[in-house]
Amino acid sequence: MTPAIELRDVHKAFGDNRVLQGVSLAVAPGETFVLLGRSGSGKTVVLKLIEGLLQPDAGQVLLEGHDLATAKAKELLELRGLLGIQFQSGALFDSMTVFENVAFPLRERHLLPSAKAIDARVRETLELVGLTDAAEVLPGALSGGMRTRLAFARAYGVRPRILLCDDPTAGLDPLLTEAVDEALAVGKRSLGATIVLVTNSLPTAFQLGDRLGLLHDGRLVEVAGPLAFRASEHPAVKAFLHDWLERHGV
Ligand SMILES: Nc1ncnc2c1ncn2[C@@H]1O[C@H](COP(=O)(O)OP(=O)(O)OP(=O)(O)O)[C@@H](O)[C@H]1O
Ligand SMILES: [Mg+2]
Repeated sequence: MTPAIELRDVHKAFGDNRVLQGVSLAVAPGETFVLLGRSGSGKTVVLKLIEGLLQPDAGQVLLEGHDLATAKAKELLELRGLLGIQFQSGALFDSMTVFENVAFPLRERHLLPSAKAIDARVRETLELVGLTDAAEVLPGALSGGMRTRLAFARAYGVRPRILLCDDPTAGLDPLLTEAVDEALAVGKRSLGATIVLVTNSLPTAFQLGDRLGLLHDGRLVEVAGPLAFRASEHPAVKAFLHDWLERHGV
């Protein structure tokens, strides 16, 4: 089967800073891949390469088998249309209702043929994340957990085939981290989306990841399922897990 996302020996440097030095990865359709690594290891750079916001110096990035570098303009638009980006709840439009927040990307991207179709899609999506009763409310009146779910609903409304999440639990307390985990589980279960999740929360990583990878010194030094990853003998993985547990007092 053609991978949803493929990186082939990708290199990326900024001046002397050689951030990625040969990253290869294939994410299967419907798979949730968790990208781990220390701050500055290049996780966001990998997401930006997949989004097409950055171009590799060498190597290839393919979406559903199409190389982003050689795709024609029209094809590129279609490939970008596969993508959903999950933004943190800080990026919500506070002057728009919950309903309008979810409808906005649908209208902007002309994804549905009629106002009626948009209405139905928004209602369906709000139901998915448990916000049906809050449709006409402004985000400012929502609890933190509901805002978190709304941020996901906005990404889910377009029914992305590929969902990219850059550290959605960053800076959140345990309760909100749980809300993120639940919203991600909904996306995985109900949308069947391929998910690339960058996270600094190991519980989130182990709970949701079909496979986990550690980015270290410009390479993916380990890629494995949760159990095998936890048991990895790779020194960088052992150090990463050890430091995380220590930092979180476990
Ligand atoms: N547009 C850019 N121009 C120059 N340097 C960049 C650019 N984008 C990223 N970098 C550098 O690439 C390296 C990796 O950055 P990146 O943002 O991918 O790290 P990260 O793993 O996402 O870290 P964090 O966990 O803190 O978000 C850093 O040294 C960063 O300074
Ligand atoms: Mg980052």
